[in-house]
Amino acid sequence: MTATPTAWQGGMARVDATGTMVAPGALAHPTHPESGAAAHDAPRTGDSHGPEGTARTHTRGDVILDLQNISLSFGGVKALTDISFDVCEHEIRAIIGPNGAGKSSMLNVINGVYHPQQGRIVFRGQERRQMHPTAAARQGIARTFQNIALFKGMTVLDNIMTGRNTQFRTGVFAHALWWGPARAEEMQHRRKVEEVIDFLEIQAIRKTPVGRLPYGLQKRVELARALAAEPSMLLLDEPMAGMNVEEKQDMCRFILDVNQQFGTTIVLIEHDMGVVMDISDRVVVLDYGKKIGDGTPEEVKSNPDVIRAYLGTSH
Ligand SMILES: Nc1ncnc2c1ncn2[C@@H]1O[C@H](COP(=O)(O)OP(=O)(O)O)[C@@H](O)[C@H]1O
Ligand SMILES: [Mg+2]
Repeated sequence: MTATPTAWQGGMARVDATGTMVAPGALAHPTHPESGAAAHDAPRTGDSHGPEGTARTHTRGDVILDLQNISLSFGGVKALTDISFDVCEHEIRAIIGPNGAGKSSMLNVINGVYHPQQGRIVFRGQERRQMHPTAAARQGIARTFQNIALFKGMTVLDNIMTGRNTQFRTGVFAHALWWGPARAEEMQHRRKVEEVIDFLEIQAIRKTPVGRLPYGLQKRVELARALAAEPSMLLLDEPMAGMNVEEKQDMCRFILDVNQQFGTTIVLIEHDMGVVMDISDRVVVLDYGKKIGDGTPEEVKSNPDVIRAYLGTSH
């Protein structure tokens, strides 16, 4: 196969034999052969887009997260080398790259789970050497994980409730006594959780233990838990991996709805190129811990370094 930009032109939707809109996603990920068959019906064109053609209520704002020269290593392994990029308020910012490129590590740097040896992080004008997980959560950063991190024996409702932890204001003592302000607060949390359940259309499974749910729904519950924290920035680590076509369509729609209705800034790691090209405002491309591309989907898909990394056989 020759490395030509045309190999990337998988973002346009088409109609398949069954009459369903699908996107060919021609640039299949080398280690994710299944990722070429994306289906979604939400081409992101300018500032007015969406599954139902809904206008965006929030247009891209100023830079709220600026990552400057981030380097992170684990012993001899350089997970990230001198990475700089920024994230603007209300945008959908994708991070793509082959397996082991450093994408998940980058999210862990943003929410303070990993502490880079070098670089600076400027979040909402505040400059830091590194984030702290509690500070990140309190400042409105929530995330989902590549491998689902839910309490499998607990119900959907209780799992989503754990997303409210950072919001509790009254002390443990008041909660233990189920007393006055604690009770009012609890009611408020329950209301918020019910709102999220309605939004993600998971009313029917609210009392089901998470471990009994199919994978696609577990991913949706994880998104629900992150949304329960009322984040201003949502970090999504492969939210559609392992999903079937219909589940992917639903997840795509929910991500766009969250972005459009609440103005939530979204940093998204995703292997499905059709999805990435359709729903992202800007894309940063990592390869072997280095940044090899950064720009609009159009810019990134015609970047020769990016094409080489994806079409090369070295991974
Ligand atoms: N906690 C860790 N300890 C040691 N090595 C790690 C750790 N987390 C990530 N790495 C290494 O960092 C590199 C990037 O990993 P990761 O960020 O998970 O990549 P990606 O998400 O792009 O697949 C890999 O070589 C991985 O083995
Ligand atoms: Mg990863």
